[in-house]
Amino acid sequence: MIISIVLLSIIILRVTPTSGNVLWEFPESFKFGVSTAAYQIEGAWNISDKGENIWDRLTHTRPSVIWDESNADKTCDSYHNYERDVEMLVELGVDFYRFSISWSRLLPTGFSNQISKQGLAYYDDLIDELIHFNITPLVTLYHWDLPQTLQDLGGWTNPLIVKYFEDYARVVFENYGDQVKNWITINEIPQICVDGYAKGINAPQVSANGIGDYLCAHHALLAHAKVWHLYNDEYRHSQGGRVGIVIYTEWVEPESTSKEDIEIAERGMQFLIGWQAHAIFSSEGDYPKVLKDAVLNRSLDQGYASSRLPTFTEKEIDYVKGSSDFLGLNYYNSIMLWNTKNKFVELKFIVPSREDDLGYDSYFNENWTKTISPDFTVFADGLKYVLKWVKKEYNNIEVIITENGYPSYPGLGDLERINYINQHLIAVWDAMINNDCNVTGYSVWSLMDNFEWISGYGICFGLYEVDFKSEARIRTARASALVYEEIIRSRTIKPNYFRNVSQVESKTSTLIILLNMEYI
Ligand code: NOJ
Repeated sequence: MIISIVLLSIIILRVTPTSGNVLWEFPESFKFGVSTAAYQIEGAWNISDKGENIWDRLTHTRPSVIWDESNADKTCDSYHNYERDVEMLVELGVDFYRFSISWSRLLPTGFSNQISKQGLAYYDDLIDELIHFNITPLVTLYHWDLPQTLQDLGGWTNPLIVKYFEDYARVVFENYGDQVKNWITINEIPQICVDGYAKGINAPQVSANGIGDYLCAHHALLAHAKVWHLYNDEYRHSQGGRVGIVIYTEWVEPESTSKEDIEIAERGMQFLIGWQAHAIFSSEGDYPKVLKDAVLNRSLDQGYASSRLPTFTEKEIDYVKGSSDFLGLNYYNSIMLWNTKNKFVELKFIVPSREDDLGYDSYFNENWTKTISPDFTVFADGLKYVLKWVKKEYNNIEVIITENGYPSYPGLGDLERINYINQHLIAVWDAMINNDCNVTGYSVWSLMDNFEWISGYGICFGLYEVDFKSEARIRTARASALVYEEIIRSRTIKPNYFRNVSQVESKTSTLIILLNMEYI
């Protein structure tokens, strides 16, 4: 009898609330934040002695590769507006702010022989301001803006990058480690390495498919481990912080429930997430076997003398394994892999390439909601599935959702963004409460509109809209900012926030939307 009462209450507790006054409630220990990155928001690209980085170089020498031919020379001008940025964080009531340090602002030559006084002061002031308002800084060391001097030496394909990154990290820990206790080494290896060193899309636009991507990622993993060990050996004791890495995730949804399709989807997960995380977070370390076997076999078939995927030595496997205190996870959307069997189509991939090594092309399920960007669709359950997969694969390591966000046109009435955040937070809640996933935080990308890499300013991700025509880069809260503030304050998602959303014109002003939503 007692057992069935206990079971019944567990079942009731674990049912997703859908109506009435039932809430999706987050524990007090769960932290909410917002994220940005240095190149996307700071501007002041040549202020004082700041060095040139690879995005300065790309946008200045090949403006036509950016959709609107723009650059981030000034962007949100957060270099001068950081106090307003912190004011917005206070308005939102966030627990933490994720931002990145610009390597070439701090070390103008890329090397630690020259430390910029102004660069040091800028991050000092920003961190002081955050601490003053009781906002925890979560600081990324590398968010895609490599000093051009280091790119001239091969960038992330040069093995010495591991040492250069360690030298840079030491300067950062020495100067900010007394105040900053939460560090991220590198943000999104695939975007750095596939888009930057294989497909020639992102800076530095190297085209070396199936080689540059693997080489870059290999050094990025070693560089991450090096910096984690540096912190662990020399700073953890006195500074008491922790160091993690951010990986880019997508859920690979199987095309059907057949064994074959489930295996294909699992292969896709290992090629994407396993490639970035297996060496660090799995109990055996190294790259996933399925990835190693596939690249080796394809390489030998193609006449290479050895695998295009670099090999970790036994010593390196041990060194990289376990080198992270938490896993940062960026999630925007899911994909499916096209099983061509029985479809009488032969796919043609670039050879060599990661797609060819994987052997399947990806696409979006037509039932997933489209957005204004061809690169993003909405499938919130995918986040829950990723969390469950990560829990199983990596021994329930602590996860922070370091990015999740919605691309829109300008305008304050961003109802789709509200729904997006709402749905994804419910997926996180479900993963935590119903599936015991160890998620401790969630961060929206982004605090405000900013330079969206090769998409320029055409796509907005901000909770705050930025008027890029105004000299002062005026920031205005969108409806989503006000709703996110309420979510953080109450630590709950309430179904009735959204009661009249469908009746509200997306062009209506923020105030009217909130009145319609019976929000204020
Ligand atoms: C992930 C990247 O970290 C960030 O820089 C980018 O703006 C967002 N995705 C949106 O594309």
